[in-house]
Amino acid sequence: MFKGVLFDLDGVITDTAEYHFLAWKKLADDLGISIDREFNEKLKGVSREDSLTLILEHGNKAGEISAEKFAELAKVKNDNYVEMIQAISPKDIYPGILELLEELKAADIKIALASASKNGPLLLDKMEISHFFDAIVDPGSVAAGKPAPDIFVAAAEAVNVSIKEAVGIEDSQAGITAIKASGSLPVGVGSPKDLGDDIAIVPDTSKLSLAYLETVWNGK
Ligand code: BG6
Ligand code: MG
Repeated sequence: MFKGVLFDLDGVITDTAEYHFLAWKKLADDLGISIDREFNEKLKGVSREDSLTLILEHGNKAGEISAEKFAELAKVKNDNYVEMIQAISPKDIYPGILELLEELKAADIKIALASASKNGPLLLDKMEISHFFDAIVDPGSVAAGKPAPDIFVAAAEAVNVSIKEAVGIEDSQAGITAIKASGSLPVGVGSPKDLGDDIAIVPDTSKLSLAYLETVWNGK
């Protein structure tokens, strides 16, 4: 049986993937770059800086932006995003997640956060679920962001679980690629159209439970 679960946050624990999209869309609009939800699938799971690079490349503006302007744009997006998440509370935890965290704790299965977001600790505090996490990886501490496996490898290490004995839960293409590359078992939240038809996927988090993860694990 698996000994640890490595959680993504945005779009898995709560609906902040939507706020990231809205904040990027506003920034892109202000720059005269048009992004839609399909393009946004490429941004999910990707660090703030890498997301901004993808948006600027999409708008053919990567060459025009100085390092100083780049840092300013990243800050504008984050300031806007941080304003949007101020009101997040335990009510915003996605269905089934609290129950899953409780079941994992009761079964003595380690819980780690493998989110690319520097706002992860703040969000866990706002949702009052920080105490469930045995480790929270600082995304700034890993060499490469998702789709590289580093943050999942670091999360398993942080809770002393072999990566091969861990399950990773993700809503993003970059995150699923990272989990696969890490050697842990991917479980997707979303659709096979976005995440691929070769992994276990739930349409929403209400379908996640310890029993479900065990079924996926036993079927691998
Ligand atoms: C990921 C999100 O969890 O964190 C991305 O899916 C986001 O959309 C990334 O860009 C970095 O987040 P932050 O809060 O550090 O800008
Ligand atoms: Mg996510």
